[in-house]
Amino acid sequence: MIVKSADFVTSVASKDKLINYELPEFAFVGRSNVGKSSLINALTNRKKLAKASSTPGRTRLINYFNINKELMFVDLPGYGFAQASKTEQAKWQELIGTYLESSGNLKRVFVLVDIRHEPSAKDVDMLKYLYFYNIPFNVIATKMDKIPRGQIDKHVTQVANTLGIGKGDVIAVSSEDKRGLDGIWQVIESLL
Ligand code: GTP
Ligand code: MG
Repeated sequence: MIVKSADFVTSVASKDKLINYELPEFAFVGRSNVGKSSLINALTNRKKLAKASSTPGRTRLINYFNINKELMFVDLPGYGFAQASKTEQAKWQELIGTYLESSGNLKRVFVLVDIRHEPSAKDVDMLKYLYFYNIPFNVIATKMDKIPRGQIDKHVTQVANTLGIGKGDVIAVSSEDKRGLDGIWQVIESLL
């Protein structure tokens, strides 16, 4: 898909403020700092559309981006941000949960995990949650530029095994050098 326009629409901080934009939605979830905002920027060829940050926990809101007036990218708050208070974490969890369970426009969830590390218990829980609610997802292994090419296959296998999914169901990407982004666009285009 050629991205002609990519516009920030709004930030939502609480579950009762969620809006129906009547466009197909593609949501990005994953632990804090895994690269959700960077991936949205890379996919849209915009440097600062979604705020990427070296400070974990930056995106505490649900951010909607309108792509080509055809679909929405939804940047969800990162989970597992250790420095956040229990109350704050519970609030994000509720916000993410309400969004995932109630958005009638959600076409696919992209669950991001860092290719360098074994997925965490929180990532496993996220997949269980998505299975439970019958919400379709793809797993994206981010930051592939950070490991040598010869080790990518080994890392993808580790990610798949820990999550109990097939190796072919993991899309490895880099927002830095833009490898793998076609695979995500293929998924999106197949659902429009
Ligand atoms: P929260 O908003 O806190 O949940 O984080 P996030 O998942 O949106 O992560 P973000 O995109 O802000 O990226 C976190 C850090 O990882 C930033 O310093 C990015 O520059 C870096 N990063 C993200 N993607 C990549 C990648 O593909 N390669 C490399 N080398 N760095 C990346
Ligand atoms: Mg972010």
